[in-house]
Amino acid sequence: MSPILELTNVTQRFGGLTAVDDVTLSVMPGEVVGLIGPNGAGKTTLVNVITGVYRGTGTIVFDGQRIEALKPYQISRLGVARTYQVVQPFPEMTALENVMAPATFAHAGVSLTTAREKAAEALDFVGLGAEKDKRASSLTLAGRKRLELAKSLAMEPKVLLLDEVNAGLNPAEIDVAVDLIRRIAARGVTIIIIEHLMKVVMNLCTRIVVLHHGAKIAEGAPDTVTSDPAVIEAYLGNRYAKRAAERAAAAAGGAHG
Ligand SMILES: Nc1ncnc2c1ncn2[C@@H]1O[C@H](COP(=O)(O)OP(=O)(O)OP(=O)(O)O)[C@@H](O)[C@H]1O
Ligand SMILES: [Mg+2]
Repeated sequence: MSPILELTNVTQRFGGLTAVDDVTLSVMPGEVVGLIGPNGAGKTTLVNVITGVYRGTGTIVFDGQRIEALKPYQISRLGVARTYQVVQPFPEMTALENVMAPATFAHAGVSLTTAREKAAEALDFVGLGAEKDKRASSLTLAGRKRLELAKSLAMEPKVLLLDEVNAGLNPAEIDVAVDLIRRIAARGVTIIIIEHLMKVVMNLCTRIVVLHHGAKIAEGAPDTVTSDPAVIEAYLGNRYAKRAAERAAAAAGGAHG
């Protein structure tokens, strides 16, 4: 199997700042990759480079095709969708209308009827079916986050880039969101998820990639990466390491006794 997304030596500079520093990364179809790292590590910038918002250096291959020189709309039509860290629905439009826009845009020549059907289906899938005729501005934050997911799903992507879709949600809402992301993955969509909540990362991800000062400092299985001293030093901190060690010891003790 060949990678669905392959970044080679990708760098993005803003003046003197190297926001993404020589990142090489390969994602296989069906993976759920967690992209973690401290504030300012370059996570959102990397998503912006992949989706064509910024044009850095290096090469990006999606589904066998070079995309690093393409425009954002071309990249999204090929099958790369993303959500935004700061959700920005059209507030006066209904939830359905908000989702119809990307449904129309992603499929050249699609009829309004088909776009409406695709939008309604995406809203049902994220659990907003009953609220499809409400104005986006009247939805709760959790609702607006789900609307954001529905917008990206309506584009029927092969790869979905999620930028902090759980930020600001309460624990019950997070459980619902995690279940939803798992159902999206089960549909065969490859997911890269930027997430600060380690519980979510550990629950969902098949692999973790860690960025620090723009550079990839670790990648691999969740357990391996989260016990890596460089990752603890740069991001997770000693409290996380101590709790993880306690959990591991408890699990080992349970296995023996
Ligand atoms: N358009 C821009 N112009 C100049 N600097 C930028 C721009 N976008 C991002 N940066 C800088 O690049 C660095 C990486 O920012 P980025 O938003 O990618 O970090 P992040 O890992 O997503 O952080 P967070 O966890 O806070 O969302 C930061 O120093 C940021 O200030
Ligand atoms: Mg960010």
